[in-house]
Amino acid sequence: MRSLKIGNTLVFFITMTLVLSMSVLVFADRPEKPDNYDPTDGWRIPPPVKNIENPVEANDQNIAQGKTSYERNCQSCHGDNGQGDGPDADGLDDFPGDFTDEAFKALPEGVLFFMIKEGKDDMPAFSGDLTDPQIWQIIRYVETLE
Ligand code: HEC
Repeated sequence: MRSLKIGNTLVFFITMTLVLSMSVLVFADRPEKPDNYDPTDGWRIPPPVKNIENPVEANDQNIAQGKTSYERNCQSCHGDNGQGDGPDADGLDDFPGDFTDEAFKALPEGVLFFMIKEGKDDMPAFSGDLTDPQIWQIIRYVETLE
């Protein structure tokens, strides 16, 4: 009898855990692109960074290496095509951005470089994980997204 009761309790807890984790999956909404999407909204960008130029050439090799780094470090949140719809975007507080949007395309490269290096809230800072040339290569790849 006793072991049966323990068994029932166990089944109850396992069931509850499953139900709870499933509801988390169902309710973890992906943040939507705001109507007036402004990629710099809430970012504190030091004005001089907009003058930093990309020292990495936009050639096939750099774009291909940027793509590999993007797939490894960014795609999980930013999505296959940079539209903010990667699997890890579910449950984020802020929309991760739309790299194909005109407003995004208009940002100076130095601003992108600053954002990727420094991060903000759910956007990780990559200054420790990626070298400057790797970040510039990613920017070269991101510029090809449309
Ligand atoms: C864990 C998820 C996550 C990963 C991984 C991630 N980002 Fe982000 N990223 C975000 C979020 C969330 C924002 C929006 C931040 C905000 O506005 O508060 C963001 C914003 C940005 C922005 C500014 C655009 C905007 O609309 O805010 C750029 C540029 C960017 N990320 C590039 C990258 C690059 C390049 C990588 C990989 C090296 C990367 N991110 C990895 C979540 C992520």
